[in-house]
Amino acid sequence: MRAGARSLSVRPAPRRLPVETPGVNPLQHLFDRNRAWALRVAEKDPEFFPRLAREQRPKYLWIGCADSRVPANQIVDLPPGRLFVHRNIGNLVVHTDLNCLSVIQFGVEILQVEHVIVCGHYGCSGVRSALEDRAHGLADNWLRHLKDVMRFNRRELEGLPSARRFDRLCELNVMEQVTNVANTSIMRNAWKRGAEITVHGWIYDIGNGLVKDLGVSLDHPLQPEY
Ligand code: CO
Repeated sequence: MRAGARSLSVRPAPRRLPVETPGVNPLQHLFDRNRAWALRVAEKDPEFFPRLAREQRPKYLWIGCADSRVPANQIVDLPPGRLFVHRNIGNLVVHTDLNCLSVIQFGVEILQVEHVIVCGHYGCSGVRSALEDRAHGLADNWLRHLKDVMRFNRRELEGLPSARRFDRLCELNVMEQVTNVANTSIMRNAWKRGAEITVHGWIYDIGNGLVKDLGVSLDHPLQPEY
């Protein structure tokens, strides 16, 4: 037997933590909060969970940043069942990201959402990293897309005072991602068959909790395609 195979065969079984012993599970408080929340919701509307268990019919697909300060449902004060959500670092829509593309396809073709909202935020660490020359490891390959947005808009950004540059790059990134959504084969095909779907670009201010529409909504394919 090869050494590698032998070491695999004697690997000890993973230790299971006793999740149901009070005072042992370090995440017990999250289960407690979950139970209290579910009870509160069911008390207010006993049909809430049975109704959602039958189907979801969200009108909105939300593409946002993974930042813990930007929770999609809370920002627009919507309960479960109303937003179909995809989040990643920097709210990026990358042409070859099968994860994001699958969410868009499922949202547009199966759930038939009416609006796709790309929502960025000021103070985005992903965007900030594009302005810095510092290594972050594997994530740098993802963050590279944000450096591309900076390169596409270099002239405008260089003309801005440095305090404004960061905020503007957060906005420009949202605009770029709106273009990327619109240029997916999924959106182009949907519009070609007459689906009424609008793609929006929003930005959230983590300093005051308010969302702003950047005025770049699209309800038709970009012409010429670029
Ligand atoms: Co962010």
